[in-house]
Amino acid sequence: MAFLGGILGRIRRGGRHGAADAAIDPLLNTTLVRRLGQNEGEVVLACEDVEREYEIGAERIRALSGVDLELRRGDLVGLMGRSGSGKTTLLNIIGGLDRPTRGEVTIEGRRIGAMSDDEVTALRRYRIGYIFQSFALLPVLSALENVELPMHIAGVGGSERRRRAEQLLTLVGLGRRMHHRPFELSGGEQQRTAIARALANRPSLILADEPIAELDSVTGLQILKLLMRVRDVENVTVVIATHDPTIHEVSDRTYHIADGRVARVETYEEDQATVA
Ligand SMILES: Nc1ncnc2c1ncn2[C@@H]1O[C@H](COP(=O)(O)OP(=O)(O)OP(=O)(O)O)[C@@H](O)[C@H]1O
Ligand SMILES: [Mg+2]
Repeated sequence: MAFLGGILGRIRRGGRHGAADAAIDPLLNTTLVRRLGQNEGEVVLACEDVEREYEIGAERIRALSGVDLELRRGDLVGLMGRSGSGKTTLLNIIGGLDRPTRGEVTIEGRRIGAMSDDEVTALRRYRIGYIFQSFALLPVLSALENVELPMHIAGVGGSERRRRAEQLLTLVGLGRRMHHRPFELSGGEQQRTAIARALANRPSLILADEPIAELDSVTGLQILKLLMRVRDVENVTVVIATHDPTIHEVSDRTYHIADGRVARVETYEEDQATVA
């Protein structure tokens, strides 16, 4: 699938990933970069032979089976698959919300399976940012206060908290909506706020479960491109679970999940080759 191909024109330039495609995006009024080639950054997330079985009465449901993944700093990847294929289960296991029945998840070189509950809580609070389908903002707080909240919980001081929250809301294009409450914001603006909140404590990993499912297609694409920009600015690793093939417009790789397994991995370069 062409990424704004001939319409916007491209420049090629060197980079950490060997090369990159860059294009000015008129919607975001900013340069977006597609990363090409091998990412030489450090491994942020590794899944080895991850399995998750649920037991309901006498029945066993294998939601995940033999999943291997390796994501490096700055990777932006999609998890695509039909309903029930195991995307949320995998995100929950990566994010330490759930434990695998077999296999190992390692984040920044630390095995989650060897961590205590307190250590997993700290990992979730400081190293991982979450983005949900329904935004999950607190309705009584302004956008600014919603973004400040995770820093407040982490004990970041008032002025630093405010400075970082303002910087992040500006990054996501909400510099002029900071004092609005969620009900005074559009769906896209609420998701932008949630993205800023996810970045608050400078995580290494952002996990987004169906982040555009409740948005129209134009707004959804804007949100995906914003995640791409966020990846560039904050140098985080981003995992996006979705049904939406629009993910190909932004992801470096897409893992196709079927029946709890990685059935196929599609790279941006392969995608381009089929267009050419
Ligand atoms: N807590 C649970 N107990 C039992 N089975 C579960 C549980 N959570 C998920 N499952 C099963 O595991 C499988 C994978 O579910 P999962 O929610 O990961 O799919 P998904 O790919 O996220 O689907 P969707 O696109 O609808 O969000 C499904 O068959 C589901 O019914
Ligand atoms: Mg799901």
